[in-house]
Amino acid sequence: MSDKYIIEIKDVHKTFGKKEGKVEALRGIDISFREGEMTAVMGKSGSGKSTLLNIIGGIMSFDSGKYLYKGKEVNLKKQSELTKFRRKEIGFVVQYFALVDDLNVFQNVALPLKYMGISRRNIKKKVMDALTELGIRDKAKAYPYELSGGQQQRAAIARAIVKDPAVVLADEPTGALDEATGDSVQNIFRELNNKGKTVIIVTHDEKVAQRCDRIVRIKDGIVVDCGGGGIS
Ligand SMILES: Nc1ncnc2c1ncn2[C@@H]1O[C@H](COP(=O)(O)OP(=O)(O)O)[C@@H](O)[C@H]1O
Ligand SMILES: [Mg+2]
Repeated sequence: MSDKYIIEIKDVHKTFGKKEGKVEALRGIDISFREGEMTAVMGKSGSGKSTLLNIIGGIMSFDSGKYLYKGKEVNLKKQSELTKFRRKEIGFVVQYFALVDDLNVFQNVALPLKYMGISRRNIKKKVMDALTELGIRDKAKAYPYELSGGQQQRAAIARAIVKDPAVVLADEPTGALDEATGDSVQNIFRELNNKGKTVIIVTHDEKVAQRCDRIVRIKDGIVVDCGGGGIS
């Protein structure tokens, strides 16, 4: 782990809705993540975990505060720049896998590379490498409905890492899996972290969290425990 911060979130606020329906999801979040660190984010349902992860992943804007990535402010105003940032730097994994049903595993994992305009030959190599790394090379031609939950999550992780992002974000990645399958998926994130990726996992599971380098706790849109270091 480096002592440099890759992600710095400074006094970030995010509100949904207006007037009576207004929800303050994030109320001044301050949290930083070191390069190569593996962090768990915990907190009750509705505390703002997914909102924070979506902001870090560049898929959601915020009302005020700052987001620095490798020391440079992420420009939320310029959609094209934000899209470029997200595609290059971030791999995102969610609870229910979000695979495209009518594409097979190979095609699902190839999707992010197609958006990047990579040649077909390179796509094939990168996708097969990712499937091999995740232990599902033999499932390349299978469709999502033909896979177990654990295999679907492996395919989703392959899709997230195929472009070799520096950061892997996972929102309750083991939440829909049984314990043994969840354990093996957790190990995959550990291996990705061992290969140098910065990993942030939102989880309800203390056991999953205990196996991370640090646990950040969020309550009502505020960081109540930064798990040692990392707060700015
Ligand atoms: N798109 C949205 N529209 C309106 N309210 C939202 C939206 N997304 C989240 N919220 C609200 O913001 C708060 C935080 O949500 P979320 O970040 O999903 O929490 P968590 O992931 O910790 O369960 C909740 O009160 C939730 O209802
Ligand atoms: Mg959530």
